[in-house]
Amino acid sequence: MTAKLDSKLFTDLEDQVNQEIHAAHNYHQVALHLDALSFPGAAQWFKRQHAEEMEHADSLASHAIDRGHMVKLRTIREPTILSASLTDDPSLGSSAIQIAFEIAEQVEQVNTDALTKLFRAARNTGDHPLEAFVAPFVSQQVDELADIREKLDILRRLDGDEGGLYQFDLNLGK
Ligand SMILES: [Fe+2]
Repeated sequence: MTAKLDSKLFTDLEDQVNQEIHAAHNYHQVALHLDALSFPGAAQWFKRQHAEEMEHADSLASHAIDRGHMVKLRTIREPTILSASLTDDPSLGSSAIQIAFEIAEQVEQVNTDALTKLFRAARNTGDHPLEAFVAPFVSQQVDELADIREKLDILRRLDGDEGGLYQFDLNLGK
């Protein structure tokens, strides 16, 4: 077993576990709203993101456990990032899917910042195992954000075109 984490660094890692669960919670909420608004493909895409964030939480927690720590889960904060921008009000219509991906961009930006902070803390503490462990998470964020921004570009180009949005939603479910 690798030595225990420095206590401040452990708290940072535990924060990140809880942050990933909060991100999952945000994705879950958006998925439910998209489902209610009859975007089944997009709802599935957001449910997959929810599952992915929960896997990240588990994986980060495993590292702490492998280093002899006990990880504590906290109360999950409400999906506040949604604010009033996405509701299940059908009058939102075709703009709902664009709002959903704008939320995804925010979620991933917050996650990117938090993971980068954790990476830097591991580096500054000289904890090479944690630094190496977190590195793939940081670089994966580049792909995540690029994928979401590409989808937003397509949505802006579609400019509410119903046929195009139908196809876009269908593809997201695949
Ligand atoms: Fe994540």
